[in-house]
Amino acid sequence: MNKNILVGNAWPYANSSLHLGHIAGLISGDILARYHRLNGDRVMFVSGSDCHGTPITERARKEGKTPKEIADYYDKEFRGLFEKLNFSYDLYSNTDTDYHKEKVKELFKKLYDNGYIYEKIEPQCYCEKCNKFLADREVVLKCPECGEETKGDQCDSCLHVPTQEELIGGNCIVCGSKTVQRDNKILYLKLPEFQKEIEEHTKEVEYAWRINARNETEKYLKQGLVERAVTRDITWGVEIPISGYEDKRMYVWIDAVLGYLTDTMKVCEERGWDWEDFWKEGRNNKIYMCHGKDNIVFHSIILNALLLGQKENYHLVDTIVSTEYLNYNDQKFSKSKKIGITALEAIEIYPIDSLRFHLINNGPERKDTNFTPEDFIATHNSELLNKFGNLVNRTLKFKNLEKIKLATMDSEIKDLIEITYKEVGGLIEKLEFREATNKIMNLVEVANKYYDSKEPWKQVKEDEQEFNNTIFTCSNIIANLSNLFEPIMPETTKKIREYLELKEPSWQPTYLEKEIDLTTKDIQALFERIK
Ligand code: MF3
Ligand code: ZN
Repeated sequence: MNKNILVGNAWPYANSSLHLGHIAGLISGDILARYHRLNGDRVMFVSGSDCHGTPITERARKEGKTPKEIADYYDKEFRGLFEKLNFSYDLYSNTDTDYHKEKVKELFKKLYDNGYIYEKIEPQCYCEKCNKFLADREVVLKCPECGEETKGDQCDSCLHVPTQEELIGGNCIVCGSKTVQRDNKILYLKLPEFQKEIEEHTKEVEYAWRINARNETEKYLKQGLVERAVTRDITWGVEIPISGYEDKRMYVWIDAVLGYLTDTMKVCEERGWDWEDFWKEGRNNKIYMCHGKDNIVFHSIILNALLLGQKENYHLVDTIVSTEYLNYNDQKFSKSKKIGITALEAIEIYPIDSLRFHLINNGPERKDTNFTPEDFIATHNSELLNKFGNLVNRTLKFKNLEKIKLATMDSEIKDLIEITYKEVGGLIEKLEFREATNKIMNLVEVANKYYDSKEPWKQVKEDEQEFNNTIFTCSNIIANLSNLFEPIMPETTKKIREYLELKEPSWQPTYLEKEIDLTTKDIQALFERIK
């Protein structure tokens, strides 16, 4: 039975250009969305730009611009980038739309009415020089877990999220003064109330997660969930729909993770679909969330708590698809230190599909991984061009070949094609994307060996029927590669479908049903050699 599949890609902060590491994480979502569509499932693939939060106000302050100017600039840049990368979003929006903000306020209000958000008067970090309460990220402190100097929202080195108490005594990020405590009115989310349900749910689903997601989530659950402040003393963000809080804004992570829901509602309104098919229990649905390892607990714990707190039979996140970090020549990508290249720079110099393939086949699936231009070029030239490109070239551009005739398909190859769909589909659903690409490449290699062993350049002179069988078999392999590779290299597979006059791709063995006249076609090499 076809399923309702929600794929959520993390919403990047609209405060600086994305680098290849971000793409290496987010491409997971596009593979899953495309694969499930081919499989006949109903897919909702959503994301957007995360416009709120101190990363953006900080940047705005530094540049003398408004937060909105910064957010709009990067939102536009991200949209262009994702379009070029062929990310097949059903909706890519941003958190600064009225639609998002209104829906988030309703969801927040529900949590408040249900008693999961409540008011506390508490001492908080205050900078006397700047005359303001400080957001977590505006406090600099020594991380109590690992000792590194860190900002108060989350430690870059060990991922620890400091508690309010741990923040006190830190320094103001703007003026450097030591912070003091002052009483403040704060709304708290009662995360401990969800401990048991989240624990039980996690036990049920985490077997399918990558190890980093399991470890990170279990660590938090083991420590015991603690209440989290959900209001901030800032002017940029979603308003708090509760009286007395007019001068405060929502903690950015609350509004951001709810974006998956608001996007779904928006698309469903437009299409006349029922958004609850993706988000409520008992709808034959599955929810995947794709992001880097620093985002795990926001999806495995916070988002689920917000859903549970609605008390409306929400379906919780099933699968956390978390990637490790991508490094560049063994160093962390860093714009300020000029290490690595941005995603925009990469798509200017590298062919998109090769980049997609490389980031999947050599991506940081289970451990931090290194990107080097040399490795990329090797993937492009030695794997894609020499193996896949060559197979297509020497079949469809066989000297003087005018027609691919209907003939007899090699039965072993036919079996292998059928098995490959099952295996690759299984691997994708198990989040083994690297292995999935290897399996498809295996079919390419078998095809090349088959071609060599048949020696069609001899067959064409000696046995026309055998020659036709060889070309027909190879063409059918290529037709199926255009399905199997579609989640990974959508531009390339589209070209193949045009050459072979194939209809829409699908996750099923496909065989040519009519002769193909090659004389009318301008068949181009799929990949150009990079020097
Ligand atoms: N903006 C966050 C980051 O770049 C990710 C937000 S994911 C969301 O790390 F789900 F909360 F939107
Ligand atoms: Zn200050």
